[in-house]
Amino acid sequence: MTTTPVIRPVIRPLPERLINKIAAGEVVERPAAVVKELVENALDAGATRVDIIIEQSGSRLIKIIDNGWGIPDDQIEIAFSRHATSKLSGLADLERILSYGFRGEALPSIASVSRTRMVSRTAESDVATEIIFEGGVLQSRKPIASPVGTTIEVADLFFNTPARRKFMKAESTEARYLSRTATALALARCDVAFSYTLNGRQIFNAPSGSVKDRVAALLGYGRQLLELRGESAVVRVGGYIGKPDQATNNRWGHYIFINGRYIHSTTFSHALSAGFGEMLPKGLYPVGALLLEVDPTEVDVNVHPAKTEVRLSKEREIYEAILRAVREATRQDGVIPIFQAGVSTRAPESGQGKRGGFEPPGRQAYIPGITSHSISNHELLTELYRPPTVPPPNGGNKVLHVDSETGEIIENGPPVAAPVSQTEQFAGPSEGIRLVGRFSDLYLILQAGEDLYIVDQHTAHERVLYEDMLQRVDQHSIVGQQLLLPVQFELSPEQFALFGEAVALINQSGFTVAPFGGRMVSIEAVPLILSRRSPERVLTRILDDIGSLTKGGYDLKKAIAQSMACRAAVMAGDRLSDEEATGLLQRLLQCENKYSCPHGRPTFIKINRSDLDRQFGRC
Ligand SMILES: Nc1ncnc2c1ncn2[C@@H]1O[C@H](COP(=O)(O)OP(=O)(O)OP(=O)(O)O)[C@@H](O)[C@H]1O
Ligand SMILES: [Mg+2]
Repeated sequence: MTTTPVIRPVIRPLPERLINKIAAGEVVERPAAVVKELVENALDAGATRVDIIIEQSGSRLIKIIDNGWGIPDDQIEIAFSRHATSKLSGLADLERILSYGFRGEALPSIASVSRTRMVSRTAESDVATEIIFEGGVLQSRKPIASPVGTTIEVADLFFNTPARRKFMKAESTEARYLSRTATALALARCDVAFSYTLNGRQIFNAPSGSVKDRVAALLGYGRQLLELRGESAVVRVGGYIGKPDQATNNRWGHYIFINGRYIHSTTFSHALSAGFGEMLPKGLYPVGALLLEVDPTEVDVNVHPAKTEVRLSKEREIYEAILRAVREATRQDGVIPIFQAGVSTRAPESGQGKRGGFEPPGRQAYIPGITSHSISNHELLTELYRPPTVPPPNGGNKVLHVDSETGEIIENGPPVAAPVSQTEQFAGPSEGIRLVGRFSDLYLILQAGEDLYIVDQHTAHERVLYEDMLQRVDQHSIVGQQLLLPVQFELSPEQFALFGEAVALINQSGFTVAPFGGRMVSIEAVPLILSRRSPERVLTRILDDIGSLTKGGYDLKKAIAQSMACRAAVMAGDRLSDEEATGLLQRLLQCENKYSCPHGRPTFIKINRSDLDRQFGRC
C-alpha cells in the first residue's frame, strides 16, 4: 500500500500588508469604527475642533478634519506602519493610559482596507504633507498647502475585502451606528467643537461648552435634565440624565464614559436604572450621559482592539457610587411626574392613570390642546374595526350589544365593536361571550360557550392592534388625526438616522411627518389610535422601539406595527366597559396568532369545564 507523502507547510512570518488586513478585521468592524479611531486620533493630537463628514454612510467616504498638532513630514509614513505610536514609550505607560489610542494599529489597519489620503501640517512647518495609500500600499507622498492640523479621507472602505463589504449592513443601519458613534465622541469631549455631516445633511454642529449644553443639544431632551454628582475614594460621578418620563425601552438612550472614553458596561448601565428604583417602570431605561472619572491605573483599556470594553479593579465601588448619585439626583423636586387635573383627555369612566408596561404614571394625561379630538378606550377599540372610508356597519353585519345586567350578547343592539368586513366576520365561539369579572385591573374573565377565558387586556389588545396595523399599512388605510398645530421638535442624531430609514413607512402608518431642517421634524398628523399621547413622545418612542426591534432582526414594517400596537393598547389599570371587554375577546379570537402578543407574551388562558372538573377531582 502506498501513502501520499505529507507536505508540511513551512512556518514563516506573515507579510506586513497581510497582518494589517487581518488586524483590520478587529479594529475596523464597520464605518463607525473608522470614525471612532480617526476622531480619537484627532483628540489625542489636542484638536479643539473636529469635523466629521460622511458620504454614503461611510462606504464611499469618511472624512475627518482636525486642527490638532499634526504630524511632521518625516513621521507621516511611520504613522501608517504597524505598531508605530507616539502615545506609549514604555511598559509603565501601558499601566496608566491617558490617551485614546496606544496600540499603534488603527491607521495601518484602516489604510489596508481602503483608499486613504491624509494631509497633515504641524505649526513648525510652512507646508503640509499629503500621503496616499491604496489597500495599504503607498501611492504618493508630496508637499501641499494646507492649514495646521490633519485631514484624513478614507474612501471606498473594504474595496479589497469583498466579504467584509458584503457584510456591511444596509446604508441606513450603518448610518445609525455612525450617528451613535459621532454622538458618543461629541459627548465625551464637550471642550471640543464638533460637527457631524451625514450624507449631505448636517446632523449637529456643537460649539465647545458645558456638559449640560452638550447633552441637551445632542440627546434632544431640552433642559429636562437631572445633574449627577457624586464622589468616593474610587470615582467621581458626573453627567446628566433625563427624568423618568423620558426613559426609553432600550439601553441606547444612555452613554457611559470613563475618563472621557465611551464604554459599554452592562453593570454601570444597570446601576443607572437601579438608582431610579420604582420611578422607572420595568423595561424602561434612563437616557443621558454618565461621566466617570477613575484613577487611570485602576482602568485596563487593553481588553479589545476597539477599546470600548474596560476592566476595572473596583467595579463594585463604582457601581455603588453611580447608584447613590442617581438616587440623590432623583430626590430633587419635580422629578416625579405629577398628574395635572384638567389636562386629562381620558373618558371619566376609564379610571385613573395607573399604567403598567411602558408608560410611567400620569403620562398619558398629556394633550394640551394639540389634537382637535381624542378618543376614549371605547372608541379606541371600536375605531379599530371600522375601515376609515367605509360607513359604519349595517345590514348584513352583526351588530353586537352586551346586556350589562345579564352579560348576554344581543344582536342588533347599539353598535359596539362590530366586525364589518368579510375577513372580520366573527370566527369565535358561537354561543356568545359574557364578561364574568375583572381581576387586578388587568385580567378580564370571560365566558364563551363552555369555555372560560382569562384575558390579559394589554397583550390581547396589542395582538389585535398589531395584526390590524399590518394589514392596514399595506392598504394605506390607517386613520390619521390631524393636529390643530403642527408640532416641531429635534431628534437625537441616532433617532434622526432611524427616522430617515423609516419615514416612508411611518407616514404610511397614520403619521404625517417630515424633516424640518437639521435634526428637526414636523408632525402634522398622528395615528388616531395614538392621538391621546404627546405627538413628540409617540414618535420618539416609536423610533426607539424600531431601533431595538430591527436590531433584533425584525423587519421595519413589523417593528413599526409592533411599536404602535404596544403604545396604543389599553394598559393595566385602564377599565374597559363590558362591551369593550367582550369585543376585545371577539376580535382576539379572529387573529391569525391569537395566543400571544407580538412580544411573545400569552394573551389568554383558556379553561374548560372538563379541566376544572379534573382539578376538583370530579372525573
Ligand atoms: N489626526 C492626527 N493628528 C496628529 N497625529 C496623528 C493623527 N492621527 C494619527 N496620528 C499619529 O499617528 C500615530 C498612529 O496612529 P494610530 O491611530 O495608528 O495609532 P495610535 O493612535 O497610536 O494607537 P491606536 O491604534 O490604539 O489608535 C499616532 O500615535 C499619532 O502620533
Ligand atoms: Mg489611534
